[in-house]
Amino acid sequence: VEANAAWAEEVRRLAKQRDAVLLAHNYQVPEIQDIADHTGDSLALSRIAASSDASTIVFCGVHFMAETAKILSPEKTVLIPDARAGCSLADSITGEQLRAWKAEHPGAVVVSYVNTTAEVKAETDICCTSSNAVDVVASIPADQEVLFLPDQFLGAHVKRVTGRENMHIWAGECHVHAGINGAELAERAAENPDADLFIHPECGCATSALYLAGEGAVAPDRVKILSTGDMVHEARDTKAKSVLVATEIGMIHQLRKAAPDIDFRAVNDRASCRYMKMITPAALLRCLRDGLDEVHVDVETAAKARASVQRMIEIGQ
Ligand code: 13P
Ligand code: SF4
Repeated sequence: VEANAAWAEEVRRLAKQRDAVLLAHNYQVPEIQDIADHTGDSLALSRIAASSDASTIVFCGVHFMAETAKILSPEKTVLIPDARAGCSLADSITGEQLRAWKAEHPGAVVVSYVNTTAEVKAETDICCTSSNAVDVVASIPADQEVLFLPDQFLGAHVKRVTGRENMHIWAGECHVHAGINGAELAERAAENPDADLFIHPECGCATSALYLAGEGAVAPDRVKILSTGDMVHEARDTKAKSVLVATEIGMIHQLRKAAPDIDFRAVNDRASCRYMKMITPAALLRCLRDGLDEVHVDVETAAKARASVQRMIEIGQ
């Protein structure tokens, strides 16, 4: 506890000295979530990064998130405690692959999930996150073809909700969420008949949950497909006493803080993102002390990517 208190004090002192705002994604380890100025989902953190007065942003999350902050605020210094914190989903499509896909569908509107590299965002018309993906796609005139990338499960969810036929979906996935499977979910749901199911749309099991609801195996109003930020809001609103959570396990900490009386359980307690977990307390301290790792985005790429990211933070306000 003493070591923790000394660490926290030093982190706060250095953050103040650097005029830095500390942002943490909901999947970060508890110590990092608790010390951050703001903890939230990708969309909320992007909005805060864009509007913050601090001259430095320390992004405790994965690299594309820090890159998005830099795209929105090129004049600010953006730091990430470990630049190796990548994302298997962002790696599932390159700028070159997207250019080739666009060439096959001239005139289509490109909607990219925020989990993409700056190079991919530069080839994109509108970015989205899991909390506004449906609104973003719904904002596109019905007669226009849509290319949605890179997550196939989020894409399937958006297609289901919007009923859109002219939407092509890239076959990417996040290894952590794809690994939370329908069989596991069905088993947990059968063991906990009164629990709500909070399911991130990147999960391979999102479709299975809706199938279970359709079959009457789970009450349809218990199945909630939510971004990580919306899970926190729903935790405060739900009447359920227990909740099964299908997403990266870091989420449980924030949910327990939001609703201490609810019993939150992971559908798959091995669903841990090794990239998110590279941001350790020691890495954060080093980052603040040495100003490392700094995130740079090529000026031309950032300029091209900015419009698509700005549309993302405007839609679904
Ligand atoms: P959200 O926080 O936007 O729901 O995203 C989840 C995620 O997987 C980020 O890597
Ligand atoms: Fe990427 Fe998946 Fe990790 Fe999120 S949980 S950062 S989508 S690899």
